[in-house]
Amino acid sequence: MENTVLFEPLRIGTHTVRNRIVVPPMVYFGSTGEDGKVNDRHLRHYSSFARGGAGLVFTEACAVVHKEGGRNAIALWDDSFIPGLAELAESIHAWESKTIVQMLMPGKETITGAVDADAFRSVQEAFRDAAVRIQKAGFDGAELHAAHGYYLNQVTEECMRQESTGNSEHGMCLVTDIVKMIREACGSSFIISVRLGNPDTDALIKEAQLFEAAGADLLNISTGTAPYAFAQETPDGRIQAAGLVKKHVSVPVIAVGGIETGGQALAVIENGYADLVAVGHGHLCDPGWADKVCYGSEPERCLHCAQCAWYTDGTKCPRRMKRTNAARVSRYMRTDNAR
Ligand SMILES: Cc1cc2nc3c(=O)[nH]c(=O)nc-3n(C[C@H](O)[C@H](O)[C@H](O)COP(=O)(O)O)c2cc1C
Repeated sequence: MENTVLFEPLRIGTHTVRNRIVVPPMVYFGSTGEDGKVNDRHLRHYSSFARGGAGLVFTEACAVVHKEGGRNAIALWDDSFIPGLAELAESIHAWESKTIVQMLMPGKETITGAVDADAFRSVQEAFRDAAVRIQKAGFDGAELHAAHGYYLNQVTEECMRQESTGNSEHGMCLVTDIVKMIREACGSSFIISVRLGNPDTDALIKEAQLFEAAGADLLNISTGTAPYAFAQETPDGRIQAAGLVKKHVSVPVIAVGGIETGGQALAVIENGYADLVAVGHGHLCDPGWADKVCYGSEPERCLHCAQCAWYTDGTKCPRRMKRTNAARVSRYMRTDNAR
């Protein structure tokens, strides 16, 4: 597939990615110690995707503030994290991939009414300060995680609901102002990406347009980690959601969800659903996914055994373990999985 659009470079902001294949943000569970610092496991893990040919590698959702009950993830809340982050950026750049850090307000909150603009100021500043550290560490950009039910997703959806009933005093600008603050602090050569995925498609399109107007360079559409509500059609509804957004914005759009083969990834781009295709599980089980697709060999197919998922050990992917141990692999295979 070397000569297909999948392997054509693409401009994102002032940067150029070498191909359209993206490693989406994925927490590397069990890898970060209490100190939140980047360690050798992170360097090996993330650089393996860049070495494997992916044009753009996102880090996992990293924490912008320290919170009790926050997930075990890389930390961004203090300048002392910059040297470790810099090593991580360098390990990915060494293989000529671009790299973006995903930023998360950790912990699950429940937003039950209008968001207090004064209280929200500290949230805005935490994201801006984290983005400045990310830039100092040498990354190409930062992403606001405003999807999957986390804090910014809840705020965004609440603001959209209030706007639609005419009750919003401040509305979406509370969140889109974060993009403006980062732009002001980091300048025009820093990629600002937003991951969003409102299940109400009209609201999703509106949100995407508001983030673009605020200065986002890249929109990463993810309506969830499971197939999306209107997923009965083909392809996966998560890809269709990206396609809807793409029709209404002019910045590049990333689609994600269930892409396993090069043919599927190419179809997403050729059919105009997105400019870039993120492949999550595919990269976890085969970090060389992009190069294999490029040069015509089959990447390992994910077994959907969920060993990589929530609060299990990310190193236990049976595909990444000794591949000769066929008995062990078959133990993880779903009985209904013919792949
Ligand atoms: C182990 C694991 C960790 C994940 N962590 C994150 C995360 O930190 N941030 C995020 O936005 N999505 C996260 N996701 C969701 C992925 O980015 C992606 O959207 C999802 O896996 C669907 O893509 P796929 O079908 O290609 O795997 C995670 C997924 C997996 C499997």
